[in-house]
Amino acid sequence: MKVISTESSQILAARVAREAGIDIVDVRFSRFPDGELYLRTGPIDDEMVIIGSTADSDALVQLLLLVDACERSTNVLVLPYMGYARQDKQFNPGEPLSARAVARALSAGVSRVLTVNIHDENVLAHFRVPAASISLAGEIGAYLRTMDLSRPLILAPDEGAAKFGEMVASAAAGWDSDHLQKTRLSGEEVRMEPRNLEAKSRDVVIVDDIISTGGTLAKATQMLYEQGARNVYAMCVHGVMTGGAHTHLLAAGIRDVVCSDTIERGCSRYSAAREIVSGIGDARS
Ligand code: R5P
Repeated sequence: MKVISTESSQILAARVAREAGIDIVDVRFSRFPDGELYLRTGPIDDEMVIIGSTADSDALVQLLLLVDACERSTNVLVLPYMGYARQDKQFNPGEPLSARAVARALSAGVSRVLTVNIHDENVLAHFRVPAASISLAGEIGAYLRTMDLSRPLILAPDEGAAKFGEMVASAAAGWDSDHLQKTRLSGEEVRMEPRNLEAKSRDVVIVDDIISTGGTLAKATQMLYEQGARNVYAMCVHGVMTGGAHTHLLAAGIRDVVCSDTIERGCSRYSAAREIVSGIGDARS
C-alpha cells in the first residue's frame, strides 16, 4: 500500500504516510496552455490511499484525475475536507443537491471513502461505495489540554454543533460545555449567549466543524466579551477561511484561531493524520 495526494493535501499526506509507515508516491502537477489541469504519478501500488481535500473546484478536478490515474489499483479515497457538502438539501426549487453530485463523481474508481467531520453524516449515503466520517474531537481536546486556560468553557455556536462540543470537552478532561442560543430582540437585533452556563470570567473556546467567513464566530465573540468572558478562542476542524475570515476573527477579539490540516492553512496547528491512519485500518479490517 502507498499514499498519494493532490496538491491540496500534500502535508497531510506526508504525515499520514509517516504515521502509517508506508511510502508516498511523487506526482508531477502542471497545466495545459488553456489552463486545464494535468498530472503524472510515479510508480503506484496495487493498493493506494488517495488523499485530497476539495476546498475549491480545481482541487476537486485534480482529485478526479488522480483517482483515474490510479484506476488499476484498489483505492481508499480519503477526503479530509469535502467541498460542496453544505449544499446537502434543495433549499430552493431548481437547485442541485451538490453534495450528492460530488459524492457520486468521487465514488467512481474507489472502493471506500473516508472523510473527516463531514458537515452532515447523511451525505455519506450519497457515495456509491462504503463511506465513513471520522471525528477530530479527540485531537482538539488533546490540543486544548496543552493550553493554559482559566475555567475553560467549550462552546458550540449552535444546537447542531452541541454534540461535537461535548465530545471536545470530554476529550479535554471533562471540561464544561454548552452551546450558544440566539434570541431575537428586534427585527435587526439578535442576542447570542450560552444556553445554560455563564461566560463571565471564563476562557471560552468556540468549537465548530467549519470556519468559512467567520461571521458566526465574530458575532458570538463580541457578545461573549459583553457578557464578561475573559478570553475567547476559536477552534475548528476545517479552516475554509474565505474573504479575510482570519482577520475578521482577530479584529473581533478572538485571541487565537486554530484549525486542523484537513485544509492546509497557516493556522493548521493539529493534524488529522493519526485518526485517518486508524480509519484506514478500520476500513481494511
Ligand atoms: C454551519 O452549519 C457550520 O457548522 C459552520 O457554523 C458554518 O459553516 C460557519 O460559517 P461562517 O464561518 O461563514 O459563519
